[in-house]
Amino acid sequence: MSAEKTLPQSKPGLGNESFKLEPGERRSIDINGKRLWERLGQLGEIGAFDDTRTGERGVCRLALTDAEIEGRNLVEKWMRDAGLSVEHDAIGNVYARREGRRPQLPAVMIGSHIDTVGTAGRFDGCLGVLGGLEVVERLDEENIETERSIIVAYFTDEEGVRFGTDMLGSATAVGRLDLQWALGRRDRDGVSVEEELKRHNATGHASLLTQAPPHSYLECHIEQGPILLEEGKQLGVVTGVQGISWWRIVIGGSAAHAGCTPMGLRRDAGLALALLRAGMWELTKQIPGLLCNFGYLSTTPGLVNVIPDTASATIDLRNPDEDKLVDAENTMRELIAAILKETGCELLDLEQTARTQPISFHKAIVDAVEDEIAERGIETMRIVSGAGHDAQEVASIAPAGMIFVRGQNEGVSHSPREYSTLEDCAAGVSVLATLTLKLANQVS
Ligand code: GLV
Ligand code: MN
Ligand code: MN
Repeated sequence: MSAEKTLPQSKPGLGNESFKLEPGERRSIDINGKRLWERLGQLGEIGAFDDTRTGERGVCRLALTDAEIEGRNLVEKWMRDAGLSVEHDAIGNVYARREGRRPQLPAVMIGSHIDTVGTAGRFDGCLGVLGGLEVVERLDEENIETERSIIVAYFTDEEGVRFGTDMLGSATAVGRLDLQWALGRRDRDGVSVEEELKRHNATGHASLLTQAPPHSYLECHIEQGPILLEEGKQLGVVTGVQGISWWRIVIGGSAAHAGCTPMGLRRDAGLALALLRAGMWELTKQIPGLLCNFGYLSTTPGLVNVIPDTASATIDLRNPDEDKLVDAENTMRELIAAILKETGCELLDLEQTARTQPISFHKAIVDAVEDEIAERGIETMRIVSGAGHDAQEVASIAPAGMIFVRGQNEGVSHSPREYSTLEDCAAGVSVLATLTLKLANQVS
């Protein structure tokens, strides 16, 4: 297993434990759901495609592609039209600022991402960014000034689909990932993050968040799972995010004639990968809470009568319990070693491409989200996120929390079938708006 490469990473922290929210006066903000909905629709047309398998309109806006830059330009235009000053940092994260009465105080940050997976709907990430824009526009319309500034942010390659590691921009901004390492990530065609940022002129001089940590961070996001829908709850209070471990594996065998090579003399890389896939499926039955996905599987030369000489895959492991995730990683290593021995194949590459530990959001923010949802008489429940989010990265340097909005169509996401309703999105963003106002007036 000498080919294994691990990822430079550190543990995400839990934010500033001494942080408290002063009760203060609650001023309820109801956002303009129709405007939010129209913008979700307009942004969702950038990178859109008609999906013949589902009959739905999907979105493909991978990070730093021409389509994503077109999306960024539209969102930035909306931000500037709303009077926000827009800045970019060295990894292409975007920060749009509404000045408070005390601009020297750390700002309240709200946001998410607008890059998508290749088979997305129009809500994942975009709800948090366009919701953030809606928050500041409603505050303007109601002539509400705040003590702290408010920053609406979106982060580069949250999905990690193009450059291989999720939350790339936010993890770099908070110092979990090294900037040079992040800029050097390459997509499957060998194009680097740095080259794409330069090509699109997408960087600027804004400080990374390590230099300018926000006072607090909130993100409103579609749930991306079935729980709220099944439980009949419109909104969810997100208590934390499960751990994520991503890998890229390349197994080497020998190409040979499929009709003339006895089974005992083969070094079949495709067989080795198939055994690994099946073994990991068995492991999910043994380790409670373990989730496993091989989202990309490929062999070369990929010909019907040639034994594969290489087999490559991506592996996504998740568990809300760190010890169980480590157990799964170790068992996977053992399984790979045993399969290589059995098949006579070799390990050409095993790279950990992303790794985050399970995190908990800040108690004061989680409680505030729950209280605000209750104030509105909305049905809710506490929930641990199955998906990774920028909020979990910012949580390492500032008190952070999330609001989940119920999805429809069994709650599916990363699919053109991803859907939520105008009413549910508006409810989630109204909670975001009311809490953002509360946080932005906390001065002690
Ligand atoms: C991001 O959506 C992830 O959890 O993979
Ligand atoms: Mn997302
Ligand atoms: Mn996603």
